[in-house]
Amino acid sequence: MKLLGIETSCDDTCAAVVENGRVIHSSCIASSAEEQNLYGGVVPEIASRRHIEHISQVTKKALREANCRLEDIDGIAVTFAPGLIGAVLVGVNFAKGLAFSSDKPLIPVHHLRGHIAALYLTHPDLKPPFLCLVASGGHSHIVEVQSYTQFRVLGRTVDDAAGEAFDKVARTLGLGYPGGPAVSRAAAEGNRLAYPLPTPKVEGPYNVSFSGLKTAVLNTVNQLRQKGEEVSVPDMAASFEWRITEILAEKLLCAASDTNAKQICIAGGVAANRALREKLEQGVQKLGARLYLPDLSLCGDNAAMIAAQGFYEYEAKPQARWHDYALNGLPTLPIDYE
Ligand code: KG4
Ligand code: ZN
Repeated sequence: MKLLGIETSCDDTCAAVVENGRVIHSSCIASSAEEQNLYGGVVPEIASRRHIEHISQVTKKALREANCRLEDIDGIAVTFAPGLIGAVLVGVNFAKGLAFSSDKPLIPVHHLRGHIAALYLTHPDLKPPFLCLVASGGHSHIVEVQSYTQFRVLGRTVDDAAGEAFDKVARTLGLGYPGGPAVSRAAAEGNRLAYPLPTPKVEGPYNVSFSGLKTAVLNTVNQLRQKGEEVSVPDMAASFEWRITEILAEKLLCAASDTNAKQICIAGGVAANRALREKLEQGVQKLGARLYLPDLSLCGDNAAMIAAQGFYEYEAKPQARWHDYALNGLPTLPIDYE
């Protein structure tokens, strides 16, 4: 079954063709990140307007690169939640128009379930159940993936998402948007012991909190500047990256140990982080478990992951009304929705 995936929940306009949830025939992205960088973060209206401008061309390109025409596609999978609502609606409406005009199934996909499905595209042997940290610009969850479409959230952030903390620290340090890769690049030249940063206390064994950590960076930078001292950007980036990845890795490994998970995964934009990957490689070995990392090209937003998850959503509910043209976009929706 070949699905066309459409993803527009943030600042990337994405389309892809994927077969049976596992084989990528094409994956195309037009990003407005460079323009968003001028404003230091994503401006929702700019994101929506760029989606409107790019979506037809990106979809055409994805079909062309897959050597397909719309007739060869068996369904349209689209991100319908969660995300910037104006941005989500562009993709939903476009997918709806395509599905309506071609009389194909329209398959709504949850964005975070999509991030998890990026792992199926990277690892042909990976099947649920497994434990997964999903860390993106808007979410940080530790999730038990019980089946392709059943999820149990064990822990989550109580305030900022991990990617959001990277973005805010990058802004404080004048490193631009998106912050994660910029902080990571700066950190490679820095000393992680230069600035001691706190591990915020939080209730719940697998919950995380990053707001205090972000504020600690801001306060340290401000205090140094008030004293007329300059902060070392590489040292602060390294100290922050080390601390936040330490927190994420520790919580995930703790959840893995308590649930006796033998397959441990990470997904979402932050899964591209090298320090996090290295820490988990070491920790997972000690647990006698196996670590699955998504390909770097599939960590950030893309439509291949949406088409992959779309396949499993479709398979799980063959009797569902997949022509529900009343589909709407939602700004928020739990990953374990029914
Ligand atoms: O999943 P994603 O592409 O979009 C959302 O669904 O939010 O994640 C984007 C987030 C941004 O906050 C970005 O700064 C972060 O992922 N990110 C990283 C890295 N690459 C992207 N964070 C840390 N290290 C990276 N290498
Ligand atoms: Zn995402």
